[in-house]
Amino acid sequence: MSPSPAPPAAVPPGPAAGPAPTTDGGGGQECCGIILAGGSGTRLWPVTTPVCKQLLPVYDKPMVYYPLSVLMLAGVRDVLVISTPEDLGRFERLLGDGSQLGCRFSYLAQPRPEGLAQAFTLGARFIGGRRTALVLGDNIFHGTALRTRLRAAAAADGAVIFAYHVADPTRYGVVVFDPSGRPERVVEKPAEPISSFAVPGLYVFPGDVADVAAGVRPSARGEYEITDVINAYLERGELEVTILDRGTAWLDTGTFTSLMQAAQYVQVVEERQGLKVGCPEEVAWREGYIDDAQLAALAEPLRRSGYGEYLMGLVAGRRAWEAP
Ligand code: DAU
Repeated sequence: MSPSPAPPAAVPPGPAAGPAPTTDGGGGQECCGIILAGGSGTRLWPVTTPVCKQLLPVYDKPMVYYPLSVLMLAGVRDVLVISTPEDLGRFERLLGDGSQLGCRFSYLAQPRPEGLAQAFTLGARFIGGRRTALVLGDNIFHGTALRTRLRAAAAADGAVIFAYHVADPTRYGVVVFDPSGRPERVVEKPAEPISSFAVPGLYVFPGDVADVAAGVRPSARGEYEITDVINAYLERGELEVTILDRGTAWLDTGTFTSLMQAAQYVQVVEERQGLKVGCPEEVAWREGYIDDAQLAALAEPLRRSGYGEYLMGLVAGRRAWEAP
């Protein structure tokens, strides 16, 4: 059967993009990104014995595609991937130098998983005084207005974190608000549920974040805690907390159950809508980082899995009826 004629795409890609990325989050200032994708993955052993968690599939794509798509949606195109010395080469094989997506990817090893704040001290040279978005390689975000919120965070002046209502706040860093709704403090995994608002693994910090992180001392559990970095900005009056409302899904993938739930979520949404969640090639195309020909070239070798068919469908304008 021959395909029906393709109407023009409702969300046309922007002007053809060259390989040199601009890292403009939307407000005119440069914002780079870090994906922290190391750790020991002990809660998923033996699955993570030969390969790290962030390379495992979440339904139809590697986990790291989801946080990468989030950074790209925020307008961040210069991205540092930090992982274990063993896994770093695997990420590089998967993601390359980023030029195929109109981005720039570089790679750095974290010798030991000594805490999230190490992303900034290890990545200090990469950051080079730029505003920096950090996303954890196992966090999945999806929902309405996400792009707008991300771009606002990338373009803001101070530190921006997000807050998300969860049923089990003791598993996360939480943000405590004062009666007027202003953030009072951020506490890492409180023993008692002192707030229902968890802090998801997505943070945007001003250009001095490497210096701030260098001042953090190891916590009682021996880690350089991201919450200490956040609280340093809070004390300086430079912290903004954006609530992600119930129209947004924030999923983590740290246990067998949550990994399965995340995969099911993605499958249900993708099958229902016929649109993919967390597809970096699609984000690159829609944001104008790559053009039709570049997307088609990325799609071709992936056709047998169906992933490439989807990308080809975008090129052909077959999803033209979707809302912008
Ligand atoms: O998911 C959001 C939560 O992430 C925040 O609410 C917490 O404030 C934050 O501390 C963090 O808590 P987790 O308990 O999830 O952190 P975890 O040690 O599991 O590490 C999160 C991810 O980062 C995980 O995929 C492994 C990776 N990681 C972790 C550490 C400590 C690294 O790549 N390097 C590290 O040194």
